[in-house]
Order: sequence, then C-alpha cells, then structure tokens
Amino acid sequence: MSKWIRIAPSILAADFTEIGLAVRKAEAAGADLIHIDVMDGQFVPNISIGPSVVKAIRQVTTLPLDVHLMIDRPERYLTDFVRAGADWVSVHPEATTHLHRTLCRIKELGAKAGVALNPATGENVLQYLLPELDLILVMTVNPGFGGQKFITGMLPKIRRLRSWLDENRSEVWLSVDGGINVETTTEVVAAGADMLVAGSAIFRYPLGIAQAIADLRDAAERE
Ligand code: DX5
Ligand code: ZN
Repeated sequence: MSKWIRIAPSILAADFTEIGLAVRKAEAAGADLIHIDVMDGQFVPNISIGPSVVKAIRQVTTLPLDVHLMIDRPERYLTDFVRAGADWVSVHPEATTHLHRTLCRIKELGAKAGVALNPATGENVLQYLLPELDLILVMTVNPGFGGQKFITGMLPKIRRLRSWLDENRSEVWLSVDGGINVETTTEVVAAGADMLVAGSAIFRYPLGIAQAIADLRDAAERE
C-alpha cells in the first residue's frame, strides 16, 4: 500500500468573503489539515491575515491548523497564534536569529514545530535540529503570493531531505508549498514529499473544491 499523502488546502486562494464555507468544503472533501499563510509585508512583500482570522477558522473546523508564518521575528507572535488555535507552526530560518530556540518555544506552547525553506535556502540549516522538528516545508515558489509557477529545481532538495529523514528513521513530515497541482504532485511525491499544500489548485479549481482534492489524491496515489 502506498504511503498516505496529506493534503493541506491553503486558504490564501479561497474566497475571503466565505472563508468558513471554503474550509468546511475542504474538510468534507477529505483535507487532512488547513494551511494558513501569515504574511507581514516585511519578510514577504504581501500582507495577509493574523491571529484573529486563525481564531475564526478554528471555530469552523476540527482539522489541524497548519500556520505558515512568513513574518520577521516570528518569535514575537508564537503565543498569539497558538492561542488562536494553531496546531502546527512553521517559521523561516531567514526570519529568526535563534531558530533552535524558536522551535523549542513552539513545542513548549504545545504545537508542532516546522521550518519552511525558501528556494534559495539549503537544507543544511536543519542539520542539527532534527530532534526539535515535526515538519519541513519546502517552498517550491518564493513565498508571498499564491498562483505562482512551481520551481522544478526544488526537486533535488526534496529528494535529499527524504534520504536524510529516512536515514535517520525520522517521522518528520516533508511538505511542499507553492505551485502544487495535479501535474506537479506526481513529481513531488516521487521525490519523497508526504504532504501537499495547495491553494489555487484547490480553491480555484474549475471543477470545485471536492473534485480538486479527489484529483490531487489520485495524482498522489498514482505515484
Ligand atoms: C506562498 C504560500 C502558499 C500559497 C500557495 O507564499 O506559502 O501556501 O498559498 O499557493 P498556490 O498553491 O496557489 O501556489
Ligand atoms: Zn504557505
């Protein structure tokens, strides 16, 4: 039996006038987590949402909330996001001076800790952090916007991380984020990803959210 690939719809691509409805539809269609992109206009050029929206989403779903912090000095806001309902919190190493401490703090707060790697950031930054990690988020676009094109050059990074995790018998989840659709799913799953974050390919799929998740699941299982 093939490995279960987790699907995390990114609400950044949802209709913001009906976020609750979009989240409910994604849950009913079999999503495994809900991915929430937080952007501060500093670390990335765009500004998105904050803890109050996480709190609102928490009220409409029982799925784990996977909060991706694209913000400078994320350590300042960890308590706020976990209190708002984040179950998983990912930070960027480029944004926090003491990454180890930040990961420990996320875990102390009772959430799972993730590190998101920009396309230009090597996996070596994680070398001494395996015990603190629950999730690695390989950015397959430059963070800041939905709807961008998948960067094929990230496939070797996913493969290296998969080998490293397997060599260490690690259960850390290996997620990919950016430009994930039915086509790129096959490639990232073959490279070793076991979690897919997808925004446009789910919330803007012409055949609707449920069919989008079913088609991504099919593509992941084809591998
Ligand atoms: C990009 C975000 C992604 C984004 C992905 O900065 O981290 O989660 O929503 O969007 P798509 O799937 O449209 O590339
Ligand atoms: Zn994201």
